[in-house]
This record gives sequence, C-alpha cells and structure tokens, in this order.
Amino acid sequence: MTQAQERRIDHSRAPYAEALRRHAEHDPLMFMVPGHAATASGMSRELADFVGERALRHDIPQLVDGIDAGRDSPLEQAVALAADAWGARRAWFLANGSSQGNRMAVIGVGTGAAGGAVVAQRSAHSSFLDGLVVTGLTPEWVFPEYDSRHGLNHGLTPAALAAGFERAAAAGERPCAAYVISPSYFGAVSDIAGLAEVAHAHGVPLIVDAAWGAHFGFHDELPAFPASVGADIVVTSTHKMGGSLGQSAMLLLAEGPFADRLDPALERAYNLTQTTSASSLLLGSLDIARRSLVLETERIGESVALAERLRALVRSHPQLTLVSDEFANYASVATADPLRVSIGLSRSSCSGYEMRAELARTHDILLEIATSSAVVAFLGPGKELDVERLFAAISEVLGRPAGRAAAHSPLRLPSPGPRRMTPREAYFADTEVVPAAESVGRVSADALAAYPPGIPNIAPGEEITAEAVAFLREVAASPIGFVRGAIDSVVDAFRVVV
Ligand SMILES: Cc1ncc(COP(=O)(O)O)c(C=O)c1O
Repeated sequence: MTQAQERRIDHSRAPYAEALRRHAEHDPLMFMVPGHAATASGMSRELADFVGERALRHDIPQLVDGIDAGRDSPLEQAVALAADAWGARRAWFLANGSSQGNRMAVIGVGTGAAGGAVVAQRSAHSSFLDGLVVTGLTPEWVFPEYDSRHGLNHGLTPAALAAGFERAAAAGERPCAAYVISPSYFGAVSDIAGLAEVAHAHGVPLIVDAAWGAHFGFHDELPAFPASVGADIVVTSTHKMGGSLGQSAMLLLAEGPFADRLDPALERAYNLTQTTSASSLLLGSLDIARRSLVLETERIGESVALAERLRALVRSHPQLTLVSDEFANYASVATADPLRVSIGLSRSSCSGYEMRAELARTHDILLEIATSSAVVAFLGPGKELDVERLFAAISEVLGRPAGRAAAHSPLRLPSPGPRRMTPREAYFADTEVVPAAESVGRVSADALAAYPPGIPNIAPGEEITAEAVAFLREVAASPIGFVRGAIDSVVDAFRVVV
C-alpha cells in the first residue's frame, strides 16, 4: 500500500458505519424518533422509495448504546481513525459542512482573545465572516493574487501574509490567528509550510480552509494535507472531494504549538455549532469515506491519470488552454490539485458561461463552475469519469458556427470600501434596507460576494462604494450571475446600518 501520509493505525475498519449496519440487522421495534421508525411501511413508503429502505434503517438518533454512547464508542473510534488519516491530533465530524467548520475555527481561536484580529485572506467564505460576527474579532485583510485573464483568485505568499501582520501591528491590532484558503476553487495550492512559519513567528495559529482539499494526502501525486505540513486548524468539506454525503465535513486540529490551548476551545465551539441530532447517515458516510480514501489508493491514482489524460486532450486543441499551465507565473501558487482541470477558453469565441450551459443543455454533461473565460471540471477521487466524452462535447460546441455572444473580459474586482465598524457591530446594529442608488457611502450590515470568484466584495462594517454597487449589479445581471448575501437576486437593495 503506497500512502502519501504515514498512518499509525489499521484503517480497514469503519467502526461507526459497521455499528449502524449491525443495528439495522437487528431490526429493532422503534418507539422513538425518527418518526419513520426505520421501516418502509405506512406513511414512509414514498420516502423509502426516494432514499432506499436501507437509508431509513441506518438513520438513527444520537446516544444509542453500542453506536455513539459512552467512552470509546464506535463513533469515537471512527473520529480517531479520521484524525489519523488526515494527519491530525484530533478530528470533529461536522453535520453542517465547512461552513460550520469555519465558524468553529474562528470561535476556537477567538476564545480568550478578547476581541483581537485575524489576519485573513480576503477570498474567505462567508462562514468565516459569520465567525467574526459571532466573536467580535476584526479582520486584517490580505488580498489573494488575482488572475485577471481568467477571472480567478489564487492564494497568498508567505510574504503577503507577513505584510498583513505588519499592517495589523501598525494599526495597533492584536492578531490571534491567521486564516488562509488552500486549495482555491480552481486548484491553486499555497505554500502552507511557509504560511504556518509566518503565523507561528507572530505567535498565533494558522487556520486553513481546505474545503476543496479533503482528498489531499491520500496519494503520492496529490498535495499534502495542510494538517501534516504546519497548519494548526484545518477545515475540510469531506462531502466535496472526499466522497462522503453532502453536508458532512470535518475540522482537524494538528499536533502543533497551540494544540493544547485550542483543543478544549474547539470542543466548546463544536458544542456551540453542532446540531444535537447530527444525521447518522452523514457521520457514517464520513467513516466510510475515510476508509476508502486510505485503502483505495490505486483507484485515486487512476483518477489522477484520467485527469492527466484530459489535460493532454485540452493541450492538443488549438482553441483551449489549461489554466494550471500558467500557475507558475503566480508566486502564491506552490502546486496544483491534479484532480481539477481548469480549461481556458480565451482563444475561442465561446465564454465559459456559454460552454458550461451548452454542455449541460445539449450533452448532459455538468461542470463544476464557469468564469467568463474558463470552465472547471472536477474529477472525484476514485471515480472513472469519461474524459473522452467531455473533450468530444467541448470540441463539438467550439466547432459550431460562430454567432455566440463572446464574453471574455472578466469583470474588474472593486476595491473594498473603508471599514467603519467591526463585522459584529454592523451585523447587530439597527439596520434598514435602501435602494442600491442610496446605499453608496452607507455602512453595510451584510457580506456580499459575487460568484465567481467568491471574494466578498463588501464585508459587514465596510462602507459601500459606487464601484462595488455597479460591480455587484453587473455580476447579478450576467448569465450565471450570483451574489451571495444579496437581499434580492438583482441586487436592487442593500441592508445598511441606520
Ligand atoms: C472556500 C470555502 N470554504 C467553505 C465553504 C463552505 O463549505 P460547505 O458547503 O461544506 O459548508 C465553501 C463552499 O463552497 C468554500 O468554497
């Protein structure tokens, strides 16, 4: 077995999932929740038809003996196996995605920090901002490198993070953590060891949002998982690239200089954020995903080879480029996720939006994301996806007679407005909703981020600028325009502090 990470214990078991199976085999008579009573009879027929009868049998409540009650329960064993698999000291199984993980991480580092600051990558997911709202911590933003040709953001260099710490010091702020995102949505991986060194030199832990990197470290050709190269807290959406069910995720605490302090703080943050009815199906899927990732290295290698085959096909087409072939031009990109193939269309007369829509409409092929001049294909680890079919379909769309509305020039990201309040002050302030035209110069109570690339253009507490309003409305009007956090889909109004 060739494994990128050294694992200390036997991973052939999936103790929690196996306990659920044993429970289902007993077929107990259930006078308890869930109301479907784990059978397909009566009113549950349609539900059983929808998810499968077995799913109902495995859907049980918490605190059942022999499954998750007591010390060293099968659930505890499963969580310990996960910590080992991802190279961490401790893991938490989350039922509300990396969104929960980010909130937990910020609450964890904010415990005892009494309103300090987090030196943070500006392309943070909105759940990071939620953490700031909950804790009252302030962000010292560091902008990621931006690829204006394709409209994508990459990561941070250690030097950029260090500059963020210097700005925080100059502003009299007391950082309690650094926060970065790696990999990016488009597969750019930052120098985590270098970033951790910077954070540690300033006496604080490094949080890595690795929502898109749950598969890292499970094959020699995949980048290392951040917990094994210096990150202190790592949040990952196991459901994205780790193969577990939607919504299931993990927070990993690495064995590092801050682990003893962070461990109880994160446990408290977990209790603050986790439902008291975490789905056994989600938790069981995490246990199974971990075992598959550790044991099925060969299959992961096959997916990596398939992705390489797709890259070779893309390079052979005169109208296509590979976004990752240009990663070397960006100092913040240390390496790339091989299972993500970002295809550049700037040599063609087809926009990324149009390509993605046409592949879905006429070829029944769904791609993860599009920008104005790129589309991104994800290859799930261990999956055998037909890359020849994808390439043939892309070639067919490109070969159609011209006449499409080309949309190559990515929108220019607006600079953020000045910060007038902390995110927490703005969020909890008295607010009103005003028309877009009247919002300029007011303080936003919400976070708004245009997708892609998903960098929050306005954070709570920042002044709304005319440039940001125009940008967000233009994005909202574009073919796949989406502004997360907006009050309405066309961004006609903003929630501002009274
Ligand atoms: C960088 C990043 N972090 C966190 C999240 C939230 O993940 P989840 O959907 O698992 O809650 C996302 C979601 O897309 C993301 O892109």
